[in-house]
Amino acid sequence: MKGKPVIPPVYLSATYEFESTDELIDVVQHHSGFIYSRWDNPTVRETEKALAAMEGYDEAIAFGSGMAAITTSILAFLDRDSRVITVRETYGGTFEFVHKFLPRLGIEVIDLGCDEVDGFHAEIEKGLTLLYLETPTNPLLRIIDVKPLAELAHAKGAVVVLDSTFASPVNQRPVELGVDIVIHSATKYLGGHHDITAGFACCNKEDSKRIWEYRKVMGGVLDPMTAFLALRGMKTLELRVKRQNETAMEVAQFLATHEKVRIVHYPGLSTHPDHPIAKRQMKGSGGILSFEIEADFEGTKRFVDTLKAIKLATSLGGVTSLATQPVTNTHAALSPDERQKAGISDSLVRISIGLEDAGALIDDIDQAFAAV
Ligand SMILES: Cc1ncc(COP(=O)(O)O)c(C=O)c1O
Repeated sequence: MKGKPVIPPVYLSATYEFESTDELIDVVQHHSGFIYSRWDNPTVRETEKALAAMEGYDEAIAFGSGMAAITTSILAFLDRDSRVITVRETYGGTFEFVHKFLPRLGIEVIDLGCDEVDGFHAEIEKGLTLLYLETPTNPLLRIIDVKPLAELAHAKGAVVVLDSTFASPVNQRPVELGVDIVIHSATKYLGGHHDITAGFACCNKEDSKRIWEYRKVMGGVLDPMTAFLALRGMKTLELRVKRQNETAMEVAQFLATHEKVRIVHYPGLSTHPDHPIAKRQMKGSGGILSFEIEADFEGTKRFVDTLKAIKLATSLGGVTSLATQPVTNTHAALSPDERQKAGISDSLVRISIGLEDAGALIDDIDQAFAAV
């Protein structure tokens, strides 16, 4: 038949047949093909290669969720004598894994606030196995200066892991910052349509062998159909993120002048404490912003409940704008004291900008302020 598909097929096969036992042995011993889809699958490989190329690493390893990518990649480099230094402002699931699960294995965990630069220097100086960073942070969009910390950690022989989900490969180039393992929750920008749960770890060949081996045994692999959807999402990633950067900036500027807004957290604004680092480290300021409104918990809840175009939903990075009041969900498990320390007030709202018209989003926000 003439003509071949522009879009590659989805290989749903869980297992693969061989011409001979010698051929099978070669695949098992040299990883030279496909034998079982928990090990590797052609559609998943295609998606992995596309992301590795996008991030500028040798390899990407696909997982069934961002959390599977994070937990498997971290465990791949630790043993019971390991020492982990982590930024405190990580995604909630990561925080729970690092602070609850790792100590159960006898692993020492040190956490520091994202602006405790001297603390990071002092703790890294004492020695470490793994440095775990996440930037921009959630929900205050703080920016960590990655390169100097990565250099210090490397001088101690540590592996440097960065969750770059909020930035996406469009707004941040971790490979240029000295990061060894880059994590993405593809549930967010890479997928981009709120219809998949997936995760990736990008790294060099040697590290990928280790993470691949752990994925093979722990089993958190991505399924082929979801890999196909992730690949489809990645084709429009740059267009979406550039548009989201522009719209977020417009919305942030609108909020910054609004009488019912106390403070706007957006790294693109010159008032943001990390604006100079963001300008240097990021190619765009991102599609997520947060702000405190002049209201108590109930007033803020009314604001969020009155939004129409912007949906009340957790998650981020997709085509639809989503709003949450972090105190009610992502940071609900923290005590009032912990929340205060983390700068998460009852009046804080986080918005993930989608692909709607900026004017329509601003109108929506404006009408919701009327309810406060
Ligand atoms: C920054 C960040 N990393 C990791 C995750 C976890 O990803 P997943 O929900 O795909 O497991 C999330 C989820 O919200 C996130 O926001």
